[in-house]
Amino acid sequence: MAKYQIAVVVGSLRRDSFNHQLANAIAKLAPAEFSFKRVQIGDLPLYNQDDDANQAASVKRLKNDILTAQGLLFVTPEYNRSIPGVLKNAIDHASRPYGQSAWTGKPAGVLGVSVGALGTALAQQHLRNVLAYLDVHVLGQPEVFMQAKEGLFDAAGNIGSENKAFLQGWLDQYLAWVKTHTA
Ligand SMILES: Cc1cc2nc3c(=O)[nH]c(=O)nc-3n(C[C@H](O)[C@H](O)[C@H](O)COP(=O)(O)O)c2cc1C
Repeated sequence: MAKYQIAVVVGSLRRDSFNHQLANAIAKLAPAEFSFKRVQIGDLPLYNQDDDANQAASVKRLKNDILTAQGLLFVTPEYNRSIPGVLKNAIDHASRPYGQSAWTGKPAGVLGVSVGALGTALAQQHLRNVLAYLDVHVLGQPEVFMQAKEGLFDAAGNIGSENKAFLQGWLDQYLAWVKTHTA
């Protein structure tokens, strides 16, 4: 079993999501001591504070996936210059009940790919604000703003040659960040 479990939170539910592909491709660049598990957020109910004392099974599963992970990887599109509602919904669920947030103190990385030239920059900034409040320790640098273009992934779903060295460099920094926080 891998020494470090990474919980991967993808902000898109789209079947052919670029962000899902990016999450899969970057995980392939990691050494075997890291394993990556995509957490499910598409079956969560809409957050309702009335349910805090009786959270749904899907919410408990999400919280357990976060709590048992040594690191978090957020890979999200930008929707209308912010994060998608499904991602915020998942973040809110796992932050409650008050005082029992699953996010506290976890090291995290943030990535995103969009069809727009800004490459999810504004969504990532909003996400960083939310995560800072939740005491998630997000890697500051390097930042990754990817635009979905021909060649971003090769036919086998790996990172294409143009971006491979850059993303490998980001991943190396991120994995070191997780290790530092786990020690
Ligand atoms: C509701 C909605 C809002 C969007 N808003 C933005 C935006 O603000 N900036 C941007 O670059 N792309 C925006 N897009 C386009 C996304 O970049 C594109 O749909 C992308 O493929 C979504 O990521 P995914 O492939 O992982 O699902 C938006 C798409 C949708 C469906």
